[in-house]
Amino acid sequence: MTTPVESDGTTRPDGWWRSAVVYQIYPRSFQDSNGDGVGDIPGITSRLDYLAELGVDVIWLSPVYRSPQVDNGYDISDYQDIDPLFGTLADLDALIAAAHQHGIKLVMDLVVNHTSDQHPWFVESRDPSSAKRDWYFWRPARPGCEPGTPGAEPDDSQAAFAPSAWTYDPASGQYYLGVFSPGQPDLNWENEEVRQAVYAMMRWWVDRGVDGFRMDVINLIAKPEELTSGRPIEPGQGSLRRMANGPRLDEFLVEMNREVGLDAKNLLTVGEMPGATIKVAQRVTDPARHELNMVFTFEHVNLDQASWSKWDLADLPLPKLKGNLAAWQNGLAENGWNSLYYDNHDQPRAVSRFGDDSPEHRVNSAKTLATVLHLHKGTPYIYQGEEFGMTNAPLTQIGHYLDVESLNYHALATAAGVSEEQVLRSLAAKSRDHARTPVQWDDTPYAGFTTGVPWSAVNPNYREINAEAARHDPDSVFAHFQKLIRLRHQNETVREGRFQLLLPDHHQLWAFTRTLGDETLLVVANCSSQPAEIPSDGLPRLDNTELLLGTHPDAVGTILAPWESRVLRL
Ligand code: NOJ
Repeated sequence: MTTPVESDGTTRPDGWWRSAVVYQIYPRSFQDSNGDGVGDIPGITSRLDYLAELGVDVIWLSPVYRSPQVDNGYDISDYQDIDPLFGTLADLDALIAAAHQHGIKLVMDLVVNHTSDQHPWFVESRDPSSAKRDWYFWRPARPGCEPGTPGAEPDDSQAAFAPSAWTYDPASGQYYLGVFSPGQPDLNWENEEVRQAVYAMMRWWVDRGVDGFRMDVINLIAKPEELTSGRPIEPGQGSLRRMANGPRLDEFLVEMNREVGLDAKNLLTVGEMPGATIKVAQRVTDPARHELNMVFTFEHVNLDQASWSKWDLADLPLPKLKGNLAAWQNGLAENGWNSLYYDNHDQPRAVSRFGDDSPEHRVNSAKTLATVLHLHKGTPYIYQGEEFGMTNAPLTQIGHYLDVESLNYHALATAAGVSEEQVLRSLAAKSRDHARTPVQWDDTPYAGFTTGVPWSAVNPNYREINAEAARHDPDSVFAHFQKLIRLRHQNETVREGRFQLLLPDHHQLWAFTRTLGDETLLVVANCSSQPAEIPSDGLPRLDNTELLLGTHPDAVGTILAPWESRVLRL
């Protein structure tokens, strides 16, 4: 057994993250302390009492590094400094220390698939004779094409936020790869010096006292052989998926783990992995392989789309959603570990997407969605505002949108002839801007987020839906989250119990058991806005059960009210 002890007394016992609940902070929208309308690090520190009251164990901090903010900080120009928008390194040191004093650990966002185009590494790499030329992917124009002319890109790969993944650099007559946007050139992980520079930077953060890393699109660091060999890659859409899970992924992760001491120091590691399958996750999260603790799958958040494009909307019947989560539970039951999430800074708000955010059902649907997720096996992630049921914002015109992804989609889709109405419908369902409206702390102007003018409009429902109101209401979504977190901390079956999905085809009920030794918990949840009858077939008998947690505490009988859920001990 190893229990590394930090200088401030923080301990990280073996496997501590298996019983932890993580809270994600998107700093720009969390709490402003200096009136410039943008959230900052001192603002976060001022809210630690709130997070301790909620009961979470870990903060995952979205990027606060120096950045031109092309993608709100996911474009880093200095990995070892803080952007003045958010504060200083001293502010971050103070946050880490104060979080530790509150019994809360802190995990940094690690964005090393790409840097900013303003990072000194890339600036140097622009010179073809520089030693850093090979740190990024530079390629000539397509054979037979005049460099820099339309269609001369090395291949047809699209970027996530731009028409092409290749950007022309007139000075050298070549193109560089940026899978997200031209401001985010991809690092070449084939180059040993790149990898060592990243590991050195990670060790520097570990020495500063951070407790782990959330790794941005980490399965994109290993590029497919067709790209690394220098040959042109096959034309096709959606370069993100095609660039992921290359042959050296496991090798790079093992090397990173060893070189940074990720497992040796019991750091929390979670890899964001678009396009990763259960099979990939089984390998990556098998503790014997020393890669990562867990991954963020995208499968369940891609189910409400009809094609590779998130904007191509599709209905999501309940059996599909619960079937997918069950497949991951079963797939990682033996040697792996799941992360559990619906919400983050890239996803629309869960209560609006999977629940019912009408005044009648918002509270119960937020509670029931949380119950279902937090009773699965894995490490749950709460995204700021989810804990009191924040909803999507009323974004109805293109002028309401700020995010690079949404603006790029609008420009490309309308240019391609898609109607404005249809584009706006997709944006209203899926834009990342929904997650990024300021946290609604109270019912004062700008919801207590800032004394200045917020960088993103506050959701007008802040007078009813805010943290302060929820904290003082024993029946609030916040109170329910507190109970779920407490239950996980206290009950080993919630943490480690075997999962079994029941009633897989039922369109209203999400039901499953968790079993450890002779304890079995049954979760039965009505995920619809109509009453639902609990069937007598396909479920254990309900008489003589003990209600551990429910949305409707006095509930008995076999009819579940809309969005009612029960956690029962059999
Ligand atoms: C995934 C992050 O979560 C997202 O916000 C970002 O735009 C891309 N990676 C690029 O870093």
